[in-house]
Amino acid sequence: MLKISETALRQINEIVERHKGRKGPVKLMLHDIQHELGYIPFEAMERIAEAANVSVSEVYGVVTFYTQFTTEPKGKHVVNVCMGTACYVNNAQVLLDKVLELTKSPVNGTSKDGLFSVDATRCLGACGLAPVAIIDDKVYGTALQTGLAEARIREIIAEERKD
Ligand code: FES
Repeated sequence: MLKISETALRQINEIVERHKGRKGPVKLMLHDIQHELGYIPFEAMERIAEAANVSVSEVYGVVTFYTQFTTEPKGKHVVNVCMGTACYVNNAQVLLDKVLELTKSPVNGTSKDGLFSVDATRCLGACGLAPVAIIDDKVYGTALQTGLAEARIREIIAEERKD
């Protein structure tokens, strides 16, 4: 397990205090911690459980249910490639393979240099645009045909990696 910094602990405590006593505090706390730290460390789940008077396993259940929460730090850029049915039959696998090759990231993991995280996800709700990729919250529909997703990844690499 990752050891988190004093600064991260302080941020967690501030967020927990801010939402303590509000309605539905667990999701509010998780949302802010994910936003601030980029992931939900175990220490945060313990703190939230204590403050919201629920068990750690309940908090963990929420974290694993919603795809917006992650228990490991994400790369600087996050690529989601949809592998739902509509995307799958429209060659999402080819797109995913290309993304993995370009980013040098394992599927559902993070590249060694921390630049990219790539996730193969369930339906992203934009089936009419299949195959769909989301790069840093921007949707790239018909990503394979137009090559837009690939172009954006190449652009990020050119900006950030000096190979
Ligand atoms: S199957 Fe890919 S967006 Fe629905």
